[in-house]
Amino acid sequence: MNAELLRDRRVAPSILASDFARLGEQVATVMDAGARVIHVDVMDGHFVPPISIGPLIVDALREQVHGAGGVLDVHLMIERPERHVADFVSAGADSISVHFESTPNIHYALHAIREAGCSAGLALNPGTPISAVDALAGAYDLLLCMTVNPGWGGQPYIPASDAKIAALRERIPEGTPIEVDGGIHPTSAGPAANAGATLFVAGSSVFGKPDPAAAYRAVATAAGAIV
Ligand code: DX5
Ligand code: ZN
Repeated sequence: MNAELLRDRRVAPSILASDFARLGEQVATVMDAGARVIHVDVMDGHFVPPISIGPLIVDALREQVHGAGGVLDVHLMIERPERHVADFVSAGADSISVHFESTPNIHYALHAIREAGCSAGLALNPGTPISAVDALAGAYDLLLCMTVNPGWGGQPYIPASDAKIAALRERIPEGTPIEVDGGIHPTSAGPAANAGATLFVAGSSVFGKPDPAAAYRAVATAAGAIV
């Protein structure tokens, strides 16, 4: 796996907004347009109300994504994520992000992800203070800053996120990727990038558009990201 891809300035299309009846085709469209980080949103009906997808879909995409030189960026919006790390690793995940709010054993969960050879992501909900990162210094490879409340695609970007991203950037070691997730479209991507975000999850602004390849390029251009 090419962990460097997660450290670049990139747009990560989120398949949550894709047409699941033709998932492979949708992923091929954005990878042909230049995407190399494919974001997979896992929801359990407990940590967040909806139920989405699990390891079977990660496994179904692994050959295609890895074969095209990409990585599978798995975002676990589930309770007690440490119990499921091994399943996602076996399915082909390259990075796994776990929520600070989802388990009393967040340090253990991050450690288990790294031990399995994946990049460990620490995800913070909009209401979680930035000081949450302090006790976990050195335990994560990327920070995922939610810019909407987790659980649904298509929500508007929370304006206070820009200040939160900037404050996180000041607080964490230089070079740590900050992934922003939720409401990222051409108008919100630029300010988030200026605040210090480096990885831009985009669901409805890519797969919700009639031409996902062109939409991907528009978000990447606005973010100053690699196309
Ligand atoms: C929300 C998910 C996001 C979602 C973003 O809970 O974590 O990754 O796919 O969707 P958009 O880009 O439509 O806001
Ligand atoms: Zn996500």
